[in-house]
Amino acid sequence: MTDLDLHTRISPPIAMGQIGLGGGIAPMHLTEMEKNPNFQLVAGCDIKLDDPNVAKQAARVTTAGGKIYPDYQSLLQDPRVEAVCIAVPHFLHRAVTVAAFQAKKHVLCEKPMATHPDECRMMLEARNASGRVGAVQMQHVGRSSMLSLRQAIHSGAIGKIQEIFLSSLWWREESYYGRAAWAGKKMMEGQWNLDGVMFNQAVHFINQALILASPGDLPTVARAENLRTALYRFHDSPSLEMEDTALAQATLATPDRPRLTMVATTCSRQERHMIEILADAGRAVWNGTGYLLPDGQPATEFHDDARDFDGNMRTFNSFARAIRTRSTPITDFSQILKTTDFIFSCYQTAAWNIKKAPWAATENLSAIFGQIARQRALPTELNPRPQWA
Ligand SMILES: NC(=O)c1ccc[n+]([C@@H]2O[C@H](COP(=O)([O-])OP(=O)(O)OC[C@H]3O[C@@H](n4cnc5c(N)ncnc54)[C@H](O)[C@@H]3O)[C@@H](O)[C@H]2O)c1
Repeated sequence: MTDLDLHTRISPPIAMGQIGLGGGIAPMHLTEMEKNPNFQLVAGCDIKLDDPNVAKQAARVTTAGGKIYPDYQSLLQDPRVEAVCIAVPHFLHRAVTVAAFQAKKHVLCEKPMATHPDECRMMLEARNASGRVGAVQMQHVGRSSMLSLRQAIHSGAIGKIQEIFLSSLWWREESYYGRAAWAGKKMMEGQWNLDGVMFNQAVHFINQALILASPGDLPTVARAENLRTALYRFHDSPSLEMEDTALAQATLATPDRPRLTMVATTCSRQERHMIEILADAGRAVWNGTGYLLPDGQPATEFHDDARDFDGNMRTFNSFARAIRTRSTPITDFSQILKTTDFIFSCYQTAAWNIKKAPWAATENLSAIFGQIARQRALPTELNPRPQWA
């Protein structure tokens, strides 16, 4: 697991360009590159350089000795830029990534890799043609709690995996969906955007569950079969076109063939992310800390490293190491595209039907989610069936 070493030192550092400077996530990437000696910030770009927050982030790039561009096309022509970190809205991930590979840059792209499987495949083909590295910035994959728990599960400590329960419960106000033009939208500028709870928030934990279930030396994403999905929209915001609540049942195509039950929502008063794995010789839980609970044996806890509580440093370092040593990054395009396949299949199996449900019903959602877990059923199949289903 040397690829996963937090102490990895890369020489010379990777000369990075940050594409998209404002918003919620780019400032965190700038912080990582400012403090991580494996990276040198040499450029940044944004289409809204007049925006005060964007200007503030642009100043950080110039302080680090980097150059600012008004668009990504001109940044990609800068020969100093060796790799780019892409933090623009979902619907632009494919176009910017493909252009970056054509300019012979390595790519670390924000999640979701893209929202349509065909787009992910175009990104993978562009990567293969360029001979460069393509990784997705899914920081939780790099968390020590996650990687150690995964290793323990696949060493056979709790036996054969039979069942996985995934809950990704978030709380988002109505105003959240008005924060940006692309928020909550199905399409943007004729491109797939699919900004619902699955591709925006739960994507991290769907990815974690599919990785925890799947054996292999590096994080490998499992495929799903027999998928059944139900999608709902409880929020009343006119900006939200997509689902804010998604329920799914599936079988995972791993050697153990466990059943998966998924609950994801932005309407939960209780914010909680939990992956529970039931096996024939014990149980494992990941909720930010990893718990291994083998039958008849003491329990083991796996904690995050204090230097890297969210896994950001490890995913960045893994990307840097892949560039210099031609190793595979822990969030390689070829694996993470299967998470897009899973979520896109959820829309397909729900026949793209997103049912409007009354906001008042969210008051009782935790009880309904409990029934879903116990009955392994979609809301329409519950006994008793909720009125809104
Ligand atoms: N990994 C995480 O935990 C995490 C957290 C938040 C957001 N994200 C992801 O990061 C991406 C950006 O999200 P956000 O909330 O920061 O978005 P945002 O809309 O708030 O910010 C995006 C920034 O990109 C800029 N931009 C837009 N189009 C551009 C273009 N063509 N060229 C250059 N810059 C452009 C915008 O001006 C803005 O400054 C999304 O894919 C989102 O899902 C990931």
